[in-house]
Amino acid sequence: MLGPVILAASRSDRIRRLVSAAPVTRPVVDRFIPGETVDEVVPVIERLTGQGLDVTMDVVGEDITTPRQAMAARDSYLELVDRLKGLELGARAEMSVKLSMFGQSLPSPTTALKEGSSGPVPEFRGGHELALANVRPVVQAAAAIGTTVTLDAEDHTTLDSMFAIHEELRKDFPQTGCVIQSYLFRTEEDARRLAANGSRVRLVKGAYKEPAEVAYQRKHEIDKAYVRILKILMEGAGYPMIGSHDPRLISITQELARRARRKPDEYEFQMLYGIRCDEHLRLAADGHRMRVYTAYGTDWYGYFMRRLAEKPANLRFFARSMVSK
Ligand code: FDA
Repeated sequence: MLGPVILAASRSDRIRRLVSAAPVTRPVVDRFIPGETVDEVVPVIERLTGQGLDVTMDVVGEDITTPRQAMAARDSYLELVDRLKGLELGARAEMSVKLSMFGQSLPSPTTALKEGSSGPVPEFRGGHELALANVRPVVQAAAAIGTTVTLDAEDHTTLDSMFAIHEELRKDFPQTGCVIQSYLFRTEEDARRLAANGSRVRLVKGAYKEPAEVAYQRKHEIDKAYVRILKILMEGAGYPMIGSHDPRLISITQELARRARRKPDEYEFQMLYGIRCDEHLRLAADGHRMRVYTAYGTDWYGYFMRRLAEKPANLRFFARSMVSK
C-alpha cells in the first residue's frame, strides 16, 4: 500500500523541498543516482563498461516549466554526447530521455501560432513540437558517434505524443528506441505495431500512478501482461530490451528467446543502476547483453521517489538512516 502514497508524494513540491534538503538524503540517493555532473558519472561509465556491462545514460529531470529549461536539458545531453565521444564506446553507451524534460508538457509557441491562424488545428497541443525540436539534435549527435537514444515512457497522457515523436525520429534515425509499460491496457496493441515495424523496444512494468480506467492495478495482472507482451516482441521483427529485475521474467525471457531462435545479440536485458547489481554481472558473464540504466544530475527527486515506491523496504532504509543521524 505504501507504493501509491510515495508516488503521490513524488508530485508534491513541499515534500520535494523537505526530502531534497535533508542532509542524510544524499548517501541514500547515491545508491540509485551515482553523481550530479558528467565529470562525476564518467568514471562510473568506465567502471561499468570495464565490467562487461553496457549503459544507457539518463540526465534526470522532468516537469520543467519553461522553454529555457527544455533547451538546458537538450544541452546537458549534448554535453554528455561530447564526453561519450571521447570514451569511444559506440552503441555500448546509449541515452534515455524523458520528453517532459524536453518541453513536451509546455504550451509551445508554434502550436499557439497555428491555433490563432485559419490553418488546420494541430493534432498535438502543448510542447509536442518543442520536445521534437529539442530531442532531434540529441538523436542526431548520438548517431554521429555510433549510438542511439531511447524515449522513456512517462504517464499515460504523454504516450500518444511520445509514440508520434518516436515514429518521426525513426524516419531519419531508425535505431531510436522507445519504452512500453505492461501495466497499461493499451500496450499489447502498441507492442504489435512496434514489433511489426522493427523497432528497438524496452518493455517495463511501469512506474507511475495510473488510474484503473487505463491500467492493471494488481501485480499478478501486470506480470501476466508483461509475459504476453514479451511474446509479441520476441516473435516480432524488432529488438526487444527487457527492462526488469524480476527473476521470473528473466528466465521466461531466456525461454522465449530460445523458442524464437534469437541469438544473444538479438535482444538485451536492462536493469537500473544500484538494483540487483550481482545479477547484472551474472547475466553478462553468461553471455547476455546487459545494459545498466544509469541516471545522474541534480534534479533527482522524481526518479528517486519512483525507486522508493517500487520497493517500500527502500523507504524503511531511508527512514532508518534519517533517524540514526
Ligand atoms: P518488480 O518491481 O516486481 O521487482 C522485482 C525485484 O527487483 C524486486 O523483488 C526487488 O528485488 C528488485 N527491485 C525492483 N525495484 C527495486 C527498487 N526500486 N529497489 C530495490 N530493489 C528493487 N518505468 C516507466 O514507467 N518508464 C520507463 O521509461 C522506465 N524505464 C526503465 C528502464 C529500465 C532499464 C528499468 C529496469 C526499469 C524502468 N522503468 C521504467 C521502471 C519499471 O517500470 C519498474 O518500475 C521497475 O523496473 C520495477 O519493476 P521490476 O520489473 O523490476 O519488477
